[in-house]
Amino acid sequence: MTTIAAPGACVETITQSATPELVVVVPTFNERDNLVPLLEKLERTLDGVRWEIVFVDDDSTDGTVRALEEVCSADRRVRSVRRLGRRGLASAVVEGIQTNFAPFIAVMDADLQHDERLLGPMLNILRKDDADVVIGSRYLAGGGLGDWSNARRTMSAVATELSRLVLRGRDVTDPMSGFFMLKRSVFDAAVRRLSQEGYKILLDILASLPASVRIKEVPYVFGLRQHGESKLDSLVALDYLTLLLDKLVGRWVPVRFLMFTAVGSIGVALHMAVLAAVHHLGAPFLRAQIAATVVAIGGNFFLNNALTYRDKRLKGLGPVLLGLLSFYAVCSVGAVANVGIADFLFVQDYDWWVSGICGIVVGAVWNYAMSSLFTWRRT
Ligand code: GDD
Ligand code: MN
Repeated sequence: MTTIAAPGACVETITQSATPELVVVVPTFNERDNLVPLLEKLERTLDGVRWEIVFVDDDSTDGTVRALEEVCSADRRVRSVRRLGRRGLASAVVEGIQTNFAPFIAVMDADLQHDERLLGPMLNILRKDDADVVIGSRYLAGGGLGDWSNARRTMSAVATELSRLVLRGRDVTDPMSGFFMLKRSVFDAAVRRLSQEGYKILLDILASLPASVRIKEVPYVFGLRQHGESKLDSLVALDYLTLLLDKLVGRWVPVRFLMFTAVGSIGVALHMAVLAAVHHLGAPFLRAQIAATVVAIGGNFFLNNALTYRDKRLKGLGPVLLGLLSFYAVCSVGAVANVGIADFLFVQDYDWWVSGICGIVVGAVWNYAMSSLFTWRRT
C-alpha cells in the first residue's frame, strides 16, 4: 500500500519550494523605461532573499506591455498582470497582492522614486516580528520630499493632516506613503474592508486594521523621476476625499450616492438661477420652468460625468449624447415618481414638508440607481 502524506504536509512542501518569502507589488502605467533599471536595483539589494515581483499594468499605451513581456520571459521571478478597461493604483496593488501567497508583501512605485535599498532592512523588521507594517516615510528625520514644489508640499501636508480623521489616533508620520511592507496575515485582515479608491492604498489599509497593529517607519528621501511622468492629476484630491468619506461613512451610505446628491443640489441652484433669469426676461412661468429643468438636468449630467463617474466617464460625441439622452429619460421618470409619491403622502394627511422630502428622496434614489445602470454602465 502506498503511503499518502497528510494534506497539511503536502501543502507545506509546496509552500516551501514554490512560494517566495517576499513579493514586491508594483503598479505600472506607462513606465516602459523604468522596468529594467528597477529590476537591476532589486536584484542587487535583495541578494540572498527569495523574492518575486508582480507588475500590475493598466493596459499602458507607451510600450510597457511589450517591455513587461521581455522582462517576464527573462526571469521567472518577474510576473505581470494586465488589467483592461481599468485604472487605479490602489486596486492594482490589491490585485497584485492576490497573485501569490508570499508571507511578506512590499509595495513600491515603478519609477525609482522609492529607495529600494530600504527593502532589506524593512524585511528584517518583519522577519524579527518587530512590527506588522513597515512604512518608508518622507517625514521622519533623515527622510525628505526631493524636488517637490511648494504647492505639492502643502497639498501633501494638508492631506496628511486630514488622514488623522480615519487613523483613529495612530501615530504615523507618512500614512500617504506609496512605499511600505507588511505581513500577509495583516493584509488579509484588512482586505475585505478596503475602499480601493484612488492612490492611497496604505492609508486605506491602516484605516481598515484594528488599533493593535504594530507600525514602524523608516526614513527615505523621495527620489527624482528619471523616465516617464507622474500620473497624479487634478482629480487626485477628489479621489482622496472619496477615500476619506468612504472610510468614515461608507458602511452606511455609498460615497458615490453622496456625491450624486451633492451634484444634485448644485443642479437645484442652477435651476433657480435659470428660472429667475428667463422669467425676468419676460417668458411665461411654464416656459421658464421647462427651460430651467432642461438646463439643470443637462448640467447635472456633465458634472456627474466629470466628478461622480470620473472612473467611468463617457467620452466622445456619440457616447456623451447617448448618455445625456438616457439621463434625461431617467430623470423624467424620477420627477414623475417624486411628484407621485409626494402627492400620495400629502393626500394621506402627511405634512406638506414630509411629503415633499419623501418625494425628493425617492426621486434621488431612483435617478442614482437608474443612471448608474443605464447612463454610466460599465462597458
Ligand atoms: N496600474 C496602475 N494604474 N498603476 C498606476 C496608475 C494606475 O491607474 N496610476 C499610477 N500608477 C503607477 C505609476 O506607474 C507608478 O509606478 C506608481 O503608480 C506611482 O505613480 P506616480 O504617478 O509616479 O505617483 P507619484 O510619484 O506622483 O506619487 C507616488 O508617491 C507618493 C509618495 O510616496 C504615489 O505612490 C503616491 O501614492 C504616494 O503618496
Ligand atoms: Mn512617482
